[in-house]
Amino acid sequence: MKNMNSELKILLVVIFFSLLVYIGVEPFAHSQMHKHVEGHNFVYDGTADIQEAKKEKKEAKKKFWAEVKKIAALKGDAQAGEATYAVCMGCHNGSGVPMGGVIPPNLDHAGALYDKNYLIALIKDPAMASNVDHVYKDTTMHPMGSIKSMITNDQDIANVVAYLKEKKSGEVTPQEAYIEACGRCHANRYVKWTQIGFVPKTKADIKTGQDPELLKFKEKVANAQIDLSKYLGKLPPDLSIIIRARSEHFLETFIEDPQSQLPGTAMPRVGLTKESFEKVMEYLEYSGDAKKPNRDSLGWKVILYFIIFTILAYLWKKQVWSKLH
Ligand code: HEC
Ligand code: HEC
Repeated sequence: MKNMNSELKILLVVIFFSLLVYIGVEPFAHSQMHKHVEGHNFVYDGTADIQEAKKEKKEAKKKFWAEVKKIAALKGDAQAGEATYAVCMGCHNGSGVPMGGVIPPNLDHAGALYDKNYLIALIKDPAMASNVDHVYKDTTMHPMGSIKSMITNDQDIANVVAYLKEKKSGEVTPQEAYIEACGRCHANRYVKWTQIGFVPKTKADIKTGQDPELLKFKEKVANAQIDLSKYLGKLPPDLSIIIRARSEHFLETFIEDPQSQLPGTAMPRVGLTKESFEKVMEYLEYSGDAKKPNRDSLGWKVILYFIIFTILAYLWKKQVWSKLH
């Protein structure tokens, strides 16, 4: 009996300290090492940009987002917007040629992926919209920056955004969301995605063991990555297992506004809607943790197994000891 008491005490001490670390120390350390960033709930109205901006930039940002708001209030004419969309297709034509270091993304689902106000801001001034204007002396130098001189009329902007929302929308798969919103910058090794497309299925020569087609592809990827690094100052990281490294809250606030989590970062804002953010997350979960649904559904079965096993072990023990006494 005395023995049992001290065992129980040791157990209680262990439980106490485990809980202390789990509930007290870990969350405290976490809160000290990562400042908490409020999300904006996928609303793109410039509030955070104005707050974060240096003093001399504040007025310009206020003015910019006020103009975006004014355009958002206009009624867009999707039919008229189709003609203006031809301007976009000058660059977003799927030719895969980099511009200013980056390949313009496919816009087939742009209306579904991106928020309306963000699209308006993007056409008005891409560098301001994605909150990387501090990188440029003149934001026309952004890879899409010349749009500022191509579409200058507010009604034209409202029209082309109405066109995107009506005609370039529809159902988006998680893979399409990832490729169109993130894929031009971020490779994903686990699903064999590179910045220029999926790694092709090729066959090595049986005699020599060489695979010239694959080599050629790898060379193209390397060149695209060099271009990207020159544009952004560094190569964007592979995102195959980012879902395990970062919390959902971090990813949400980072994608909405990278500067809020990493001030000075080269990653531009990606103005996703809540629904398309969830699609991207679904794909990141699939690539980084494809077995998670299996594991989750297996969990309760394992627990049930242990419960049954414990009962059997207990009954067996009772039986064995009853014979000994
Ligand atoms: C001069 C070439 C050019 C023109 C014209 C152009 N774009 Fe772009 N666009 C780009 C490039 C390059 C990028 C990639 C920029 C980056 O990744 O930093 C881009 C990116 C985008 C993105 C993704 C933005 C994001 O935050 O991830 C959207 C959406 C977009 N363009 C829409 C449009 C629309 C709509 C039009 C027409 C009104 C248009 N673009 C006209 C070159 C262009
Ligand atoms: C125009 C290129 C570009 C696009 C598009 C882009 N990113 Fe990035 N991303 C970057 C760069 C550059 C970095 C490195 C930032 C740094 O270290 O300062 C980065 C970093 C990241 C990080 C790492 C942050 C960290 O340190 O933990 C995550 C997560 C991320 N991006 C997610 C995304 C997702 C998800 C998308 C699509 C919704 C996306 N990015 C679209 C360029 C891009």
